[in-house]
Amino acid sequence: MTRKILVTSALPYANGPIHLGHLVEYIQTDIWVRFQKLQGNECYYVCADDAHGTPIMLKAREQGITPEELIERFGTEHQADFAAFLIEFDNYYTTHSAENRHFATLIYERLRDAGHIERREITQAFDPQMNMFLPDRYIKGTCPRCAASDQYGDNCEVCGASYSPGELKDPVSVLSGVRPVERTSEHFFFRLQDFESMLREWANPAHTQEEVANKLKEWFDEGLKSWDISRDAPYFGFEIPDAPNKYFYVWLDAPIGYMASFKNLCDRTGLDFDTFWLPGSEAELYHFIGKDIVYFHALFWPAMLEGAGFRKPTRLFAHGFLTVNGQKMSKSRGTFITARTYLHHLNPEYLRYYFAAKLGSGVHDLDLNLEDFAQRVNADLVGKLVNIASRCAGFIEKRFAGRLSATLAAPALYRKFTAQGAQIAELYEKREYGRVVRQVMALSDEANQYIDQQKPWLLAKQADQADQVQMICTMGINLFRLLTAYLKPILPRMAQRAEAFLNLPAQNWDDASRPLLDHTINAFTPLMTRVDKADIERMIEQSQETLTQGGISAMTGPSAATSFTLEPIAEPIDYEQFARIDLRIARITEARLVDGAERLLRLSLDLGGERRMVFAGLKTAYDPADLEGRLTVVVANLKPRKMRFGVSEGMLLAAGPGGKELWLLEPDAGAQPGMRVR
Ligand code: MSP
Ligand code: ZN
Repeated sequence: MTRKILVTSALPYANGPIHLGHLVEYIQTDIWVRFQKLQGNECYYVCADDAHGTPIMLKAREQGITPEELIERFGTEHQADFAAFLIEFDNYYTTHSAENRHFATLIYERLRDAGHIERREITQAFDPQMNMFLPDRYIKGTCPRCAASDQYGDNCEVCGASYSPGELKDPVSVLSGVRPVERTSEHFFFRLQDFESMLREWANPAHTQEEVANKLKEWFDEGLKSWDISRDAPYFGFEIPDAPNKYFYVWLDAPIGYMASFKNLCDRTGLDFDTFWLPGSEAELYHFIGKDIVYFHALFWPAMLEGAGFRKPTRLFAHGFLTVNGQKMSKSRGTFITARTYLHHLNPEYLRYYFAAKLGSGVHDLDLNLEDFAQRVNADLVGKLVNIASRCAGFIEKRFAGRLSATLAAPALYRKFTAQGAQIAELYEKREYGRVVRQVMALSDEANQYIDQQKPWLLAKQADQADQVQMICTMGINLFRLLTAYLKPILPRMAQRAEAFLNLPAQNWDDASRPLLDHTINAFTPLMTRVDKADIERMIEQSQETLTQGGISAMTGPSAATSFTLEPIAEPIDYEQFARIDLRIARITEARLVDGAERLLRLSLDLGGERRMVFAGLKTAYDPADLEGRLTVVVANLKPRKMRFGVSEGMLLAAGPGGKELWLLEPDAGAQPGMRVR
């Protein structure tokens, strides 16, 4: 029976980059979804950027752009990061969408009409200079208990006290530095307590892990309180329909973003939304979340759904937090590693494998120990798994023209391997990926032992043993095929490469149960290379650097960029490849318009004695007269290229999307024409 399954990961905030901590969640979810799809289930994986709230509004202001532009940039960047880590969403959307506005409004109105929304005046800290109410995190002051200075408005990092911002001594607004005043305003509250009996019944181990269910019991004992779901303008979010200048709090519309992303998928593909979201639905609904956001997903979210006439989740899967080398990720230690920085140095499948090896169904934190990471990937994937294929492939290719034998040398061993498929599938279903990995690695050891015992390299020296050699190596290759199929949810790219090597179309879970015989395979190419420790060191170094540099470095030019889309960084190249590019400082001695050219200028360059003539597409951004005399950077060893208007003997470096937005690179004072740039 094919199951209908809808899966979500929590929606990352659209004001910061994806980092390795986030990836614990998205990789965990992606493995589960890929597994369900390989099983033949109808499974959809949706997600979105969480685009609303005060921090996003303020960050956009700080950068001098609109919040829409900010979330657009981060949306593009996040999607590129996820794709690079082979995280395959069926839909990736944003909470700042028409669909989300529709559902947020609908759910709110249904809750209001059923009497679950109440209004009341509250007093809050207000920044008279910024003219806005201040969330607790935007107030700092002296701890009322231990007198430590510079503490946040809700709790003290020195003595651990929690308090309300009103209790802080000498409070100041983080935004303006002025002392906040108290101001009242009417807020909207969702009466969570109306749903207590439903929630008590729902929040049990049938719907989430036992640890989470226990935590929920504590919260019930503390008593459920109504939840403040409104914020006053200025705020970036959806305005509440019957209340001008009041907005839905970001956490109201964030989980609704799951529905909205799915609705967007339905509208694009013709899927039926109601089948998945109406009460009594036979479809399954799962949310993967971090342990820090359980309250929102186990209490507010089911209550909102129930109150508004939608189905509730089948289960919540909460996970723990990532530490690196045993400690909280830290910018100063260089262990706050973004997805992008990782990708500059290391293969994404290393991380997928390492996380899988450490993940279970519980809520424990997990540690990325970088020493262990390198050792484990090298020993398991390269030393054990890929080794099986590389030991056998050469014989098949060279002696048998790539042809596998017609029978298996050790059918009982093969059956032993296939017999474990059902158990491994069950472990995936239960999210016990660490046990999947251990079981597959134990089988890899057995496969290698088999080859050790059979010694095809010795038999190959005896002319009358050719059939034996072919059968043994065919056996090894078949075992390898099964093991890569078992790891396909974790290592989809490696599995794909193995399929290409085995000359097979994309395989589903059950396809590998029949052995591959009398079949021609392709030449073997290394399916995975070893982790180089130097790459890890460079990654740590770069993570420290980006802290001080703050991202994109300044470029000088005629005008500043207003807005731009961050392009994904290109595939890594070797240092050697980079070193072959000879960059030089050049002085532009003459700049001329080119008759009939829309974008080109003809530039004469001085490279410290050597003269060059270069055609550069700078006309849309620069007046030729402004370029004369300037220093810039040129690729000096590019082969001369014949263009329509003449031969160009080099290439200038400029940044920007094009048109008016192009900025020529310019060295700092002191650089001289002809100097090598490195
Ligand atoms: N925007 C909210 C979620 C809204 S869901 C309706 C949010 N965003 S987040 O960007 O802070 O986190 C996204 C997910 O990543 C959360 O599930 C969070 O628990 C998880 N993680 C963020 N940092 C993490 C670690 N260091 N380790 C493991 N998971 C982490 O919360
Ligand atoms: Zn204190």
